[in-house]
Amino acid sequence: MNALPPVWEAIPRLALGDWWKEEDLPLDWGRYLAPGPLEVEVGYGGGDFLLALAERDPAARFVGIERFGEGHRRLVAWMRRAGVRNVLPVLGDAYILLNLLFADASLRTLYVNCPDPWPKARHARRRLLTEEFFRIAARKLSPGGRLFVATDDRPYAEQAAAALSRVETLASTHPGSPWTGASPYPVRTRYERRWAAEGRSMHYLVHERRLPCPT
Ligand SMILES: C[S@@+](CC[C@H](N)C(=O)[O-])C[C@H]1O[C@@H](n2cnc3c(N)ncnc32)[C@H](O)[C@@H]1O
Repeated sequence: MNALPPVWEAIPRLALGDWWKEEDLPLDWGRYLAPGPLEVEVGYGGGDFLLALAERDPAARFVGIERFGEGHRRLVAWMRRAGVRNVLPVLGDAYILLNLLFADASLRTLYVNCPDPWPKARHARRRLLTEEFFRIAARKLSPGGRLFVATDDRPYAEQAAAALSRVETLASTHPGSPWTGASPYPVRTRYERRWAAEGRSMHYLVHERRLPCPT
């Protein structure tokens, strides 16, 4: 009987409770995924965007962070059907896991698509797109690495743009306007498709990790 590829052995373990407390951190992704540029999607939902990227770029490796177990199970089922080996979805909170799992300057790309906007003031603390989150993101990106943020929610886009403008290690790739309305992606996420069907416009914020990395 063929042994399972390492990524398939890891998936169930990296989804159990506070699994990261049992690991040596930052994680050695080479234990599970073949060498290649590392890309991360935060809040991948059902995982269709992550899977589409991975199928288009088999030489790269993709890690997804999601806290919604149902979405995680859906992605794993799709991965099994497609025989995917370059995607590793992990379960948990992105704020914690982005910080802990990845070595500094190790990511080629980080995607945050349609994060929950939490529009009510009393829920504002739950928003992901804060200056502190972007500072963690900037630290994890390699020099020249890119951060993509997509949201349909105008006030959230404004908040994100203001926070990003305070992070001196990230530079917008669309200076002169806080976001672009043209999708930088080869595929649409599930929520993008939903918002497009409702006639809502999207805001894409694309930032690059400045060179050189300050130590
Ligand atoms: C509105 S959905 C968007 C899903 C997908 N990115 C898309 O565009 O179709 C937001 C997703 O982010 C996840 N999420 C929100 N906050 C998170 C966090 N702190 N850590 C991990 N996942 C998070 C939610 O569980 C949900 O699946």
